[in-house]
This record gives sequence, C-alpha cells and structure tokens, in this order.
Amino acid sequence: MSSLNQALSVALENRQSLLAELHAQGTDCYRLFHGSQEGASGLTIDRYGPQLLVQSFHTSLDRDALLALHSAVNAHLGLELLLVYNDRSQGNSRIDRSDAVYKADDAALADLVGHEWGLNYRVRGRHAGQDPLLFLDLRNARGWVKDHAKGKSVLNLFAYTCGVGLSAAAGGASEVCNLDFAEGNLAVGRENGHLNPHLAPMQFIQSDYFPAIRQLAGLPIASRRGQKLPSYARLDQRQFDLVLLDPPAWAKSAFGTVDLLRDYQSLLKPALLTTAEDGVLICCNNLAKVNMDEWRDQVLRCASKIGRPVRDCQTLAPGADFPSLDQQPPLKTLILQL
Ligand SMILES: C[S@@+](CC[C@H](N)C(=O)[O-])C[C@H]1O[C@@H](n2cnc3c(N)ncnc32)[C@H](O)[C@@H]1O
Repeated sequence: MSSLNQALSVALENRQSLLAELHAQGTDCYRLFHGSQEGASGLTIDRYGPQLLVQSFHTSLDRDALLALHSAVNAHLGLELLLVYNDRSQGNSRIDRSDAVYKADDAALADLVGHEWGLNYRVRGRHAGQDPLLFLDLRNARGWVKDHAKGKSVLNLFAYTCGVGLSAAAGGASEVCNLDFAEGNLAVGRENGHLNPHLAPMQFIQSDYFPAIRQLAGLPIASRRGQKLPSYARLDQRQFDLVLLDPPAWAKSAFGTVDLLRDYQSLLKPALLTTAEDGVLICCNNLAKVNMDEWRDQVLRCASKIGRPVRDCQTLAPGADFPSLDQQPPLKTLILQL
C-alpha cells in the first residue's frame, strides 16, 4: 500500500464514529481526508452526497494514485461515488479545466444533490467558480443556526450559496435575508431554496457588503477620496435578531476592502449595529494566520467601544472531519450574545 493510501486508511478509520453520527443526522457531505493535518499537505478528499471530490492544491496527483484513492473510499463506504478531480495546483488555486490527469464522467459532473442536517443542497463538481458550492467546515455553524433560529429574523452576510440562510429557514426563522454581491452565488442559493420546498421562502439582496450594511446600521456611506460611487441598492435602517458574518479572507470592491488580517473592525462594527438588543452575532475569520485569542480580544474590544458590549462569547470549532493538530483550525467562529 502506498504511503498516501496508508494515510487515507488511517483518516477513514479515525472517522468511523463521526460518519455514523453524520449519516444518522441526515448529512452525507463531509471531509474524508484533510491532507494538511493527515499526512498529505495540499490534498483534500470530500464527499458531496453521490460525488467524491478530490482536490490537490500543491502538486498534481497521478492517475493511478487518484484511482486508488477513489477505490479505497468506495470500498470503505460500500458506495460507488462519482469521482471528480479538481487539480488546483496551478496559479491562484484555479482548477485545471483541461483535465490532463483525469476527466470525470458526465454523470459525475451533472447537477447533483447532497445533504446536511437533513437539508438538500445543490452539488456541482464544476461551475464558473473555483470552490465547491458548500463550505464543509462551516457545518457546525449551520447546525447551530438551525437549532437557534426559531421565530428570529436572520441576516446572512457574504451569503455565498445561502447555506446559513437555508439552515435558519429550516430552524423556523420568521424571516431570512441573504446578502451577497455575486448574482451567480445567490442563484445557487435560490436553487437550494427550491430543493427544500417545505421551507418558507428566503429573501435575497444582491449588493456590495459595505453600502448595504452601512445603510442597515444607519451609518453614512463614504466615497473614497471624493471618487463617485457606483449605484447601489437602497435599504432602510433596521436590525435583525440573528446575524451571520462570514466574509472571505480578502476582497476589494469600489466600496471598500475586505481584509480579515488588517481590518476586521470595519466589517464588524456595522454588523454589530445591525444586530438587535438581546440578539446574536455569529462572526467568522477563516484566515489561518490569525490567532483565535488575539482575534477574539479584538472583536470584544470593538463591541465595547461602540457601546454594544458582548454578554456572552462562545467559540464553535469545525467538526472532527477537519482535525487540527495544534487545536488552531483556520476557520474560527464566535457566537456573540449582545
Ligand atoms: C467565502 S464566501 C462566504 C461563505 C459563506 N458565508 C457560506 O456560508 O458559505 C465569500 C462570499 O463573499 C462574497 N463577497 C466578497 N466580497 C463581497 C462584497 N464586498 N460584498 C458582498 N459580497 C462579497 C462572494 O461573492 C462570496 O459569495
């Protein structure tokens, strides 16, 4: 057995009880091999319902090694998962769409459905973006929202494909509002809504974060160095009972820069002001080099400074399918009771 297959076999063994638990709760989307922590840096193997998604970020796999991993997972799970290989070892983690190593079958690339916490999610091995349509390390946050959303108005910021919004709707939220500037991502969110027809409909706001959150928070929208701003959706000032803030590590737009390393405050401050008294703000930071203790201090200080002190702060770690040897997972999540 190759050392890679041996590492996979240990990873599968370590997940025995977790997988039983996930299957029992209606989840068939999870990480089976988290290479950076399990012996093959830059390699991830994820199950998305009927699909097995293998991704390499540092060096390409060779075809035989890829097929051996696929067989080992199938044998372990007793399934015939449809294989997709996204080699992202070229620049900027972009998928090599020439499929030099392995070309997936049409069936593997079809529109499929995966499940998490009993909900249906659109799964596509290939689409216009680079990342899978559901970020698996946020599963515990979606579960928390599902358990705590009953009767609450919920605002899902940087909503991507609206998994958090869907979880809130499933938990009985009175209202769910998903905000993102990418129409393509919200379109998948709408599909996710349609895949769960028993849930109350969600709302979708296509807007840049900065003008939207500043209007909701009742703050002015400043133009930078007197430059004229592009047009933006008009929103009334208001608050939500439960707000989720899970931004990308870095993104620049005409309205501002999302920078989780240097300036979390300009994202956090308006989100705090948009959270109701006695409400909850869940905030995330997925940048590995940001230390949890330092970031938590920063978050708590910012909240006190703007007069919204945190009554209780709880941390939420990703599931055990994202092991972290130093107990410092890249995705950090805080649940703030205001
Ligand atoms: C890492 S994803 C967020 C993951 C998401 N919270 C989830 O639950 O899966 C980043 C998202 O932020 C959006 N985005 C990036 N910059 C933005 C901005 N300035 N305003 C609004 N959305 C933005 C992207 O379109 C993308 O959908």
